[in-house]
Amino acid sequence: MLPPRNAFPQDFIFGAATAAYQIEGSAHGGAGPSHWDSFAATPGNVLDHSSGARACDHYLLWETDLDLMRDAGFDAYRFSTSWARVMPDGRSLNMQALDFYDRLVDGMLQRGLQPYLTLYHWDLPAALADLGGWRNRDIAAWFADYARAVHARLGDRLASTATLNEPWCIAWLSHFLGAHAPGLRDIRAAARAMHHVMLAHGTAVQALRAEGAKDLGIVLNFETAHPADDSEQAAASAARQDAIYNQWFIRAVMGQGYPDAALQGLAPHLPAGWQDDMAQIAQPIDWLGVNYYTRKMHAHAPGLWPNDAASDGPLPKTQMGWEIRPEGLTEFLTRLSRDHIGQMPVYVTENGMALAPGDDPTDDADRVAFIGDHLRAARAAMDQGVNLRGFFYWSLLDNYEWAWGYGPRFGLIHVDYDSMVRTPKASWHAFRQMLR
Ligand code: NOJ
Repeated sequence: MLPPRNAFPQDFIFGAATAAYQIEGSAHGGAGPSHWDSFAATPGNVLDHSSGARACDHYLLWETDLDLMRDAGFDAYRFSTSWARVMPDGRSLNMQALDFYDRLVDGMLQRGLQPYLTLYHWDLPAALADLGGWRNRDIAAWFADYARAVHARLGDRLASTATLNEPWCIAWLSHFLGAHAPGLRDIRAAARAMHHVMLAHGTAVQALRAEGAKDLGIVLNFETAHPADDSEQAAASAARQDAIYNQWFIRAVMGQGYPDAALQGLAPHLPAGWQDDMAQIAQPIDWLGVNYYTRKMHAHAPGLWPNDAASDGPLPKTQMGWEIRPEGLTEFLTRLSRDHIGQMPVYVTENGMALAPGDDPTDDADRVAFIGDHLRAARAAMDQGVNLRGFFYWSLLDNYEWAWGYGPRFGLIHVDYDSMVRTPKASWHAFRQMLR
C-alpha cells in the first residue's frame, strides 16, 4: 500500500524519472555517437550485448509516455537531455535535437507536468571521449558550453536543472571499476575523473547563473556501506567506501573539502593544483537530489588500496540482487541534513526496484510494497526535520539498464520491446489512486 497523498505536504512533488540514453533510442534524430554506443558494442561489457540504439523508442513515442505520466497524476517529470544528441560532434549544435527537447518540454507543460532537467545522464559525445573525456580538464569548459546551449533553448520553461547524475558512477564505476563507459580500470584515470566531474559541475553552475538560471542542483547517489564482519579491517574498508561514495561529492559541492579516507589513496593521482579548484567547485546550489537504492557489505581485500571486497547482505533482494533496506533512505536524508546541507531543499530524485515479470507482467505487488516502504522512510526523515520537497520514482518505463541490458525491469509501465506497446503495471495504478 502507498501512503495517502495527504501524508505529505500539499506542495510536495511526486514524479517519475528517466534518462535519455535509456529510453529515447540513440539511432533516431541525428544524435552523434556517445561513449555508451562504443562501450556497448564491445564484447563483455553489456550482459545481453544490447545498446540504447532503439531503447524504448521514446524519441518517437514521447507523447504516449507523457500522457501516461499525466494520467497517473504526477506533478513532475525528471528527464535528461542527451549531450551526444545535442552536440553530435561534441561541439556543433544539432537543431533537430533542440527542437525535439523543445517540443518535449512544451508537451510536459501542456499536461501539467513540471520539467526537472538533468543535463548529463552519461551519454558523452564520442568525439569528446576521444579527447580523454572525464580525464581531460577541458571537460569543465565543454560541459559549460553544452549547459549554456540547452539553457538558451529550454531555460525559460524549466522547473529545475541538475548538472550531473551520479558522479560516483561517472567517475569511479566507469574509470576504476570498469563497469560503465568508458570501461577503464585505472586509478589515475579515476582520480582525474573524480576531480574533473566536480570541476565540471561547478563551472556549469557558474555559467548557468551568469545566464540567469534558477533552481540549480546536482543529483548524487548514496549507498549504505556496512562492515561485513566485526573486524577492525572490515570497519576500515566500510569507512573508506563511505568516503569515496557518500562523502567525496557532497563535501566538495558544499565546500567541505575531499574526505581524508579517500584522499589517502587518490591524492597521488589527482591533477596538480587540484586544491585551487575547490572554491570553483563549491558554487552555491539551490537544492540537492538524492538517489537511493541499497546497501553493500564491505570486507578487507588484500593487495592494493582501497582494499575493498563488497558483497550483498542477507536481506530480501530485488531483481538486481540489491538488498531492500528502506531505513537507509531515512538515514541518508537525516545525515545529509545534519552533516552537509542543513535546511537546503532536497529531493529523492531516484528510488525504485527492478522486478522480474511473472506470468502477468503488470502484477507488481512487490514493487507497490517497495515504494510504500520507501515513501514512509522519506516521510520519517521529514518528521525528523529534513527539508524534503519531492520524490521521483525510477523509472517511468522499463528501459535500458546499462551494463545489465534489457533484463532488469524498473518501470511503473511495462514495455514490450518488440511491439513497443506500453502497459501500466499495478504500481502505476497505485500511484494513480494515491495522486488523484
Ligand atoms: C541510477 C541511474 O541514475 C539510472 O540510470 C539507473 O537506471 C538506476 N540507478 C537503476 O540502476
